[in-house]
Amino acid sequence: MNDSTGSVKNKKLLIWVQEMADLCKPDSVYWCDGSQEEYDKLCNDLVKKGTFIRLNAEKRPNSFACFSDPSDVARIEDRTFICSRRKEDAGPTNNWVDPNEIKSTLNGLFDGCMKGRTMYVIPFSMGPIGSEISQIGVELTDSEYVVVNMRIMTRMGKKVVDVLGKDGKFVKCLHSIGAPLEPGAADAKWPCNPTTKYIVHFPEERSIVSYGSGYGGNALLGKKCFALRIASNMARDEGWLAEHMLILGVEGPDKVKNYVAAAFPSACGKTNFAMLIPPKEMEDHKVTTVGDDIAWIKPGKNGKLYAMNPEAGYFGVAPGTSYKNNPNAMETIKANTIFTNVGVTPDGDVWWEGLSKEVPEGVIDWTGKPYNPASGKPVAHPNARFTAPASQCPSIDPEWDNPSGVPISAFIFGGRRSKTIPLVYQSVNWNFGVYLASTMGSETTAAANGELGKVRRDPFAMLPFCGYHMAEYFNHWLQFGRNLSNPPRIFGVNWFRIDEEGKFLWPGFGENMRVLKWVLDRVNGKTAAVEGPIGWMPRYEDMYWKGLDFSREDFNKIMSIDTEAFKQELLSHEELFSRLYDKLPKEFFFMRELLLSSLWRSPAKWELAPERV
Ligand code: OXD
Ligand code: MN
Repeated sequence: MNDSTGSVKNKKLLIWVQEMADLCKPDSVYWCDGSQEEYDKLCNDLVKKGTFIRLNAEKRPNSFACFSDPSDVARIEDRTFICSRRKEDAGPTNNWVDPNEIKSTLNGLFDGCMKGRTMYVIPFSMGPIGSEISQIGVELTDSEYVVVNMRIMTRMGKKVVDVLGKDGKFVKCLHSIGAPLEPGAADAKWPCNPTTKYIVHFPEERSIVSYGSGYGGNALLGKKCFALRIASNMARDEGWLAEHMLILGVEGPDKVKNYVAAAFPSACGKTNFAMLIPPKEMEDHKVTTVGDDIAWIKPGKNGKLYAMNPEAGYFGVAPGTSYKNNPNAMETIKANTIFTNVGVTPDGDVWWEGLSKEVPEGVIDWTGKPYNPASGKPVAHPNARFTAPASQCPSIDPEWDNPSGVPISAFIFGGRRSKTIPLVYQSVNWNFGVYLASTMGSETTAAANGELGKVRRDPFAMLPFCGYHMAEYFNHWLQFGRNLSNPPRIFGVNWFRIDEEGKFLWPGFGENMRVLKWVLDRVNGKTAAVEGPIGWMPRYEDMYWKGLDFSREDFNKIMSIDTEAFKQELLSHEELFSRLYDKLPKEFFFMRELLLSSLWRSPAKWELAPERV
């Protein structure tokens, strides 16, 4: 595809591309058509440049590995900005700079930033092409790595330009690695700007500018930047939801199918949950995957909520993924996959911590050097990733590509909490569910920032992804619920509670199906629950236990509520509330009072007492 052939009719797009080419001064401009040939050629070019390593064609057909620059290994929240016109619209949880000021900084940085490189024009659709729920974006980038990853993560190319037509709207996504190449100079294997990085969102203009990084969410602008930060603004203005949620389907033995959407902060096993395989004794339940990271949710005409996964691939964390804990992910990445910052074995395959017990002999680590076991460092970077097409997932839901989305019966929210929060509970109503999700917290893992075990509030798992004032976002959820005649039920879960010896109480992974079954039985009116101080909870006999040796005592332990600790938990919400005070829904104060007063009436340790059951 080439605009000079006249196939691009959208004047606004043509003008913008020309203006950006004038500013960035690339050697050439290339319009991506999204074809397999184009993808293969770019991958070959990356192999020639030394960026990609072609993996063993038998073990990992049509797959590649690459190592990023050590300065460019993850999303960088402190360089991410929401530059709304008014500071108060970005809210206190986002970085903000005056949009005019940052534009002048960015203009300086982008002037000539693509010298010696090609500027690729990537037209892409978030969601099935042409669906009413979908949105179109165009990313301009000087990174081939970005082009080939975007081809997996989105629907991209000529078909999108056709849908855009003469005057279709699109989100402008400008990206540069910020590493102009002087004539004759050797290129780096992973060019990026080692010192200057900006990921900037202009919510009113619905545009994104990213500079300096070539990695993941910083550079694949359809994902977190568009599908969450910009889309959350669209969703607020237009009455829908753009959420950091997986979507999965469950079909029970009665053939009734339900879909749930679930939010967990990063590093809480979202991909594993989205691809869950039920334990042997529950094989009559089938779990299917619609999405593993992002959900766009809109009310349908029938009063139900419909959710769609705007992405077309998975950008999943590799370390910890294995045939033991996520066979579906392992099957998904068998071929046509790009691996970033994993280890590479001498026989041209990939390796990471958790894949197998033994570190393979002669493995190359993510820094591109032979692994030295004495270093004490991991082979794969803890944030190493695979990029793989969603269509390759064995558990993919038949409706995952349905332009209308799938009907949602329940929302599940969960963080990583070693104490205080029970395995599962149901909020008494929508508003209490919104309170639960808004005050959700997760304990930091050592990998996150070294502050092991500190509870970080991560409302709706959206703290790094909400493109406007977080408290306004809470209001949007409350308002959204008011307009629903039969809102989905809302549940809290916690897979990570530990016992006195520090051992996890719950086996997790496939066994989470037991919790999911109770959630869906509640939704379908098929099971009872008792009223606990913080919501509805299952009794031991309300859960399905065949095949799992989990005693009533253990269940009571994992469901128990330490009244004093929970009071402290509620009081600690104050920290979040005071940060967001100016726009915080007043309902939250009353809800917290009600929860506190129900705890006052509870014994010091609230338990599912044997006589209740
Ligand atoms: C992700 C994240 O990469 O949430 O999906 O950090
Ligand atoms: Mn995510």
